[in-house]
Amino acid sequence: MHFFGYKGKKFYAEGVSVERIAKEAGTPVFIYSHRTLARHFKAFESAFKKVPHLVCYSVKANSNTAVLKTFASMGGGFDIVSAGELFRVIRAGGDPSKTVFSGVGKRDEEIEYALKTGILMLNSESPQELRAIDRIAGRLKKKAGVAIRVNPDVDPLTHPYISTGLKENKFGVETEEAVREYVYAKEGLENLDLIGVDCHIGSQITELSPFTDALKKTRALIGVLRKEGIAVRYLNMGGGLGITYREENPPHPSAYGEEVLRQTRGLDVTLIFEPGRNIVGNAGVLATRVIYTKKGSRKNFIITDAAMNDLPRPSLYGSYHAIKPVVVSGPADVVADVVGPICESGDFLAKGRELPAVKPGDLLAIMSAGAYCFSMSSNYNSRPRPAEVMVKGSEFFVIRKRETMEDLVRGEVLPRRLFPGKGD
Ligand code: LLP
Repeated sequence: MHFFGYKGKKFYAEGVSVERIAKEAGTPVFIYSHRTLARHFKAFESAFKKVPHLVCYSVKANSNTAVLKTFASMGGGFDIVSAGELFRVIRAGGDPSKTVFSGVGKRDEEIEYALKTGILMLNSESPQELRAIDRIAGRLKKKAGVAIRVNPDVDPLTHPYISTGLKENKFGVETEEAVREYVYAKEGLENLDLIGVDCHIGSQITELSPFTDALKKTRALIGVLRKEGIAVRYLNMGGGLGITYREENPPHPSAYGEEVLRQTRGLDVTLIFEPGRNIVGNAGVLATRVIYTKKGSRKNFIITDAAMNDLPRPSLYGSYHAIKPVVVSGPADVVADVVGPICESGDFLAKGRELPAVKPGDLLAIMSAGAYCFSMSSNYNSRPRPAEVMVKGSEFFVIRKRETMEDLVRGEVLPRRLFPGKGD
């Protein structure tokens, strides 16, 4: 449940009208609800309150430091996939000792940075990486907490681009190889502390069965490893629990929790989770202003000041995001494509959408924009990225300023010798 909705004809984020935010902060603008973030985080936490667990919010879903601080202050840990994300976690006051590091291509300097900050563990995704972690930990005279990410060959029944637990995916190592690697590492890689098993099968999963399959397989693996004398203490089930964008009916975190507890009963591990979308997805909207409307012979277009660079999911995955008028003017009476100003036909936010007739200057709210929207945004077409604001009760706060023209060229250099002038 989220705290966006109509009060009369006006659309609100908690106690603040989106119209007011758009007026004061400009558009396009991402709006996050603090109360929704906290509620979703707590719902996840409380699903596991009966057992030892750690909820490591997946930073990639929404990496704004104010969002991270919200979870850090609730005792949350973090799932990171780069040194940049670790930097953000630390900047936000997050605890490295509650942080896990995933990803198929961690570079030496990233591993070194992570070990120096004292993170809880690295999720190793290949034999070469396992050896790299050992080598770097040895050089730093540290013991690196490690889990091997296993690829359980489970179909998460989701979009192919966000399915990760199949044999054809690049992630993790296959179960048989994982056993060989754990045994090898126990004997030969003395700078590793083999404390966990890690498994993330994909994202926007809306059924329990893929999780059940993965849990059964990882449980069996832990049994095999313990027989080999490897003292597995953590089981990391990754993220992936889906949300409602349209009509999906994903399990509530409590139902997911019950299933996880059923499948792990008596296993004697601390459970780790890496939820991203489930916590932040429906805690954000993108407010955008209509620039023009246009009638073609085949289609109607609503051209907005938000585009695929701000919210790339529809262009990338054909994803559906609900769109609501910020001020209701009448019933839905137009079918239109909602598009941005970018020079690509792939630049759309919605296709064939029924909306009330809107006119230039009207505001629209693009729903479910808290996860994988700003964090995947770009400056394509040299468009400064939007501001982000956080609403709490009847107040709102800018948590990332709108980019300026100067921001667009920051870091770019025009070397004199490359462009000698007349006097040179
Ligand atoms: N852990 C790992 C290792 C991951 O790779 C991911 C997401 C998560 C946790 C968090 O998954 P979540 O709970 O958010 O499903 N850009 C795509 C989603 C990519 C997901 C990548 N990995 C989208 O917009 O749908």
